[in-house]
This record gives sequence, structure tokens and C-alpha cells, in this order.
Amino acid sequence: MKIIATGKGGVGKTTTISTLATMLSREGMKILVFDTDPSMNLAMTLGLPYLEVPTITGNKEEINEELDDLDGDGAFAIGRGILENYSRVNGDGIRVIVMGAIPDEGNGCLCSAISIVKILLNYVDSDDSGESYDVAIVDSQAGPEILGRGLARDFDFNLVLTEPTPKSAEVSRQVVALARNLGVENNILVINKSETSDDVQRMSALVGIAMDDSVRIRYDHSVIEADRGSECLLDAYPDSAAVSDIACLKDKILAGE
Ligand SMILES: Nc1ncnc2c1ncn2[C@@H]1O[C@H](COP(=O)(O)OP(=O)(O)O)[C@@H](O)[C@H]1O
Ligand SMILES: [Mg+2]
Repeated sequence: MKIIATGKGGVGKTTTISTLATMLSREGMKILVFDTDPSMNLAMTLGLPYLEVPTITGNKEEINEELDDLDGDGAFAIGRGILENYSRVNGDGIRVIVMGAIPDEGNGCLCSAISIVKILLNYVDSDDSGESYDVAIVDSQAGPEILGRGLARDFDFNLVLTEPTPKSAEVSRQVVALARNLGVENNILVINKSETSDDVQRMSALVGIAMDDSVRIRYDHSVIEADRGSECLLDAYPDSAAVSDIACLKDKILAGE
């Protein structure tokens, strides 16, 4: 299963994805996460020290050389090898791949790193011989255009993260239009930092997603406390409202698979 989380900075993508990935991993699934947000804090949220995780932007030349060999025999092993060599596994067994920040040198373009991410996404599922990942989750700043046409269609779910405000709804409405246009069929509206259950009706109408396909994550000070202490939300506050709401999101995804 492939999942992408979209939405502007600060809406809660990294919090939601890291908690969701940890829950799924603890249920015994093999999980891979891609951090394609240039502010790259998914790895840190998952407990991996910043400097220990290789980035695609930092190893672009080597990776591109290895990708040159993808045309011949053994392409799957090469692709999977790149995926595994330029990533790290956290304490919960989640493999984390980081695209990296906009490079200082050159033209500051992330395009080639994004195209590497797109290629690597083809090696998440197994060929007949290999072991496959059960779930791959992409944490992306803004919209699904990072995937482009074709690849977007491979995604089973687009989690459209939003805050409960009209401004945030407008960004999400555009993201959903784009995602549908690219062929993503299952768009789930995730209304984060919600302080009233009325948000579901109001936000789903504004964004244009059915209420049945919308979930709410309550505003919860535990999330901020966990962030402040660099703690794993699920471990530090297992009984919190946010953890319980993210568990509902997980169940919805597993039910709709
Ligand atoms: N449900 C919530 N309740 C309160 N604060 C939250 C909640 N979800 C996220 N936050 C806070 O919002 C900020 C942005 O969250 P983050 O997950 O980093 O967003 P993004 O990855 O979309 O930029 C963080 O400071 C986080 O602690
Ligand atoms: Mg983030």
C-alpha cells in the first residue's frame, strides 16, 4: 500500500505520519517512509539523529551512477539496493529515506532529487523473488504534484492534512483538485488541531470531500509537549486524544485498503 500526505507547512503531516507509521510497524507491518519535505524533520521525529541519515541530495552523483545500471539485468536488486543503502532504520524497524534540503551550491534545484524519489518508489513493491514493504508513506510539502501523472495513480491514499480554517481549506481544495486530476482516487481529509466536532461538516464542505472520507484529529497539547521533549508521541502520551484520533485514521485506511 502506498500513502502520500499532502498539505502546507505546519498543518501536522510529520506528526501524523510518524505516529501512523509507528502504529503500523508495531502491528507487524514492514514500513518505509520518504521525507520529501525540504525542512526534513520526519527522521528526527522518528528518533533518528539528524546527522546519521544520508540524504538523496547529498549523494546524488553516486545514486545517479547506480541508477545508470537499472536498464540491464538485476534492475530490481539495484533499485532495492539504492533504497536500502541511502536510508536508515529506526528503533521500530521503520526505514526512513530523506530527500534532503535544497542544495547550497548549483542552481538550488530539487528536481533531480525528486526524480530519484520517483524512481525509488518503483522498488517498494516486490518482484517475484524479493520481500516487499507493506506500506510506503511519503511526507510531502504542499501538493501531490511531486509525484506527477502516472505515479500518483499508484497511491492508494492521499491524506490531505488541513487546519480547521477557511484559508487552510482553500489550499486543501486546490490539492484535492490536483490529486484527482492526477488520478488519485482516495483522498482522505484529515482535519488536524480541531477544537470542535463541527469542523468535520464545515471543512469537508469547504474542501469538497465527503464527510465519510474525513477524519478529525483533536487539538492536543500532548503533541506540543512531545515535540518539545523530542519524545515519541505514541510512547510519551499513549492515552492522548491525538493518539486516539490517529488510531481511528489508521483503522479507516486499513478498512478501505
Ligand atoms: N493535533 C495537534 N494538536 C496540537 N498541536 C499540533 C497537533 N498536530 C501538530 N501540532 C503542532 O503543529 C506543529 C506542526 O506540526 P508538524 O507535524 O511538524 O507539521 P508539518 O509536518 O505539516 O509541517 C508542531 O509544532 C506540532 O507540535
Ligand atoms: Mg513536516
